[in-house]
Amino acid sequence: MSRKVLFSVYFLVNLIACSQAANILYLITYIGKSQYIMLKPIGLELARRGHNVTVISVFKELEPPPNYHQVLVDENIFDAMGGKRPSHFTSVDLSAEERHNRFLWNGGLTLTEIVLNSTQVRQFLASDHNFDVVISEQFFQEAMYILAHKYEAPLVLITSYGNCMRHNIATRNPLQLATVVSEFLVVQEPKSFFGRLRNLYFTVYEYVWWRFWYLEKMDKLAREYVPNLKSPVPSLYQLQQNVSLFLINSHFSVDPPTAYLPNIVEIGGVHLSPSKPKLPKDLQTILDESSNGVICVTFGSNIQSSKLPVDKRNAFLNTFRKLKVTVLWKWEEDFLEGKPDNVIIRKWLPQNEVLAHPNVKVFISHGGLIGTQEAIYHGVPIIGVPIYGDQYNNLLQMQQAGLAKILQFHDINEENLETLLNEVLNHASYRNRAKEISKRFKDRPMSALDTAIYWIEYVIRNKGAGYMKNPGLKLSWIAYNMLDVYGFLAIVLLILVYLVFKVVNAMQHIIKTKSYVPDVRNGKIKDN
Ligand SMILES: *[C@@H]1O[C@H](CO)[C@@H](O)[C@H](O)[C@H]1NC(C)=O
Ligand SMILES: *[C@@H]1O[C@H](CO)[C@@H](O)[C@H](O)[C@H]1NC(C)=O
Ligand SMILES: *[C@@H]1O[C@H](CO)[C@@H](O)[C@H](O)[C@H]1NC(C)=O
Repeated sequence: MSRKVLFSVYFLVNLIACSQAANILYLITYIGKSQYIMLKPIGLELARRGHNVTVISVFKELEPPPNYHQVLVDENIFDAMGGKRPSHFTSVDLSAEERHNRFLWNGGLTLTEIVLNSTQVRQFLASDHNFDVVISEQFFQEAMYILAHKYEAPLVLITSYGNCMRHNIATRNPLQLATVVSEFLVVQEPKSFFGRLRNLYFTVYEYVWWRFWYLEKMDKLAREYVPNLKSPVPSLYQLQQNVSLFLINSHFSVDPPTAYLPNIVEIGGVHLSPSKPKLPKDLQTILDESSNGVICVTFGSNIQSSKLPVDKRNAFLNTFRKLKVTVLWKWEEDFLEGKPDNVIIRKWLPQNEVLAHPNVKVFISHGGLIGTQEAIYHGVPIIGVPIYGDQYNNLLQMQQAGLAKILQFHDINEENLETLLNEVLNHASYRNRAKEISKRFKDRPMSALDTAIYWIEYVIRNKGAGYMKNPGLKLSWIAYNMLDVYGFLAIVLLILVYLVFKVVNAMQHIIKTKSYVPDVRNGKIKDN
């Protein structure tokens, strides 16, 4: 009770301090837990600063501040989607296109319908509300963006990965396909000719399907489930073109430097804070006492390492058995057959807090962006086994930076694991590089979280800050790409070439006629 009173006082003080407390709607409706880990600090921090925050989510905050209201999707999403969690290890060879065709497009549509049709969300949408801004995660739930139109509020989108090709096209940010790999694509050599061709191919595939098939279905969902929309109802594509602000989970200190419009802001590492992380007592003791070092093994929140094929699991166990270090493994079952004494399993690990411990020497991971950023932040070298999506290219960047080694899934065996672990454990260069990159990742004028909050409040203060949007949005596609001008120049050039050709022809003719004169003269000479 006293905690609530304390919070209320705090809320009031904040209300007075920042006279501009806003009503904020925050949509985190995708089921990815690691995405939620990255996104939730933004909502909580907005509430901490006195804003009235309403969150629609599938995840529940257990002790939220009083001005943080939750609208929860109670339905068991995996049941409702008619299946259990897929094992990601069996789909490791799928191309990005196959992954979209099999899981992402239809999964996104089904999931969004479940969210919009869930009891609390329907009740919420049926009652009256006012919002000054609508913030949404950007990941296969685009129908939710219609709420920006419903509440006539500016739209802010947040990606849990970095740059987004579809949105580069929609907002008319330069594509930069030569240096920026599409977020879902695995490209072995991104800058090679075939790497760039692959990137272009996938970007075209993705854009065409997204815009002309998938988004039209999302449009239908939005109109079907969201009541009282003022007409004319814009399409979801138009809403995304008109987005006020994009917060993207990347940072140039570790990702490729990229040209961005002023309303695209990098907030890579937004869920990481310099405050001392708190570990549960048992883990704290284990980590403190492991003076030979610790290897932390997790394949993230989505991929379950307990689903590893037996031969690969045994390769890990046999390698760990030979080491003197402690191994902390996120293993989702009670029992791990053949577990050596130096391997400690937990169904869930507070990964960021573990990685912050100075005894952790190596992070064995799938290369998911959130975990990779945590390792970067705490300066821990990585051995990465990419499974899908952006993971290979996240790891490739870290390998090129000298703090990671990639181990392909099919190459997991005792020999390779032992070689790699000895390499990374016994060469200081990996750790030194990791520390160096950690330092530059943190070296910013404002923390990532402060940056995110600053720009969200900026958009609220400036009523959508329309002046930050690319003026090119008002031009036709042809004008924006300068095709009319290039076309005109091409025609002028053609005319010039034609004229030059004509003149040369005419001159040749004259020369020929002239050179005929001596012949005549010769003739005359002969005649003479
Ligand atoms: C805060 O938002 C909730 C909606 O979740 C609304 O019912 C409430 O009236 C709002 N409070 C203020 C002070 O605007
Ligand atoms: C929406 O929810 C209702 C129950 O609340 C259910 O009967 C209906 O089948 C759901 N519709 C869809 C398309 O899932
Ligand atoms: C674009 O967004 C602004 C708010 O940022 C809004 O005032 C305007 O009406 C929107 N335009 C369209 C065409 O949706």
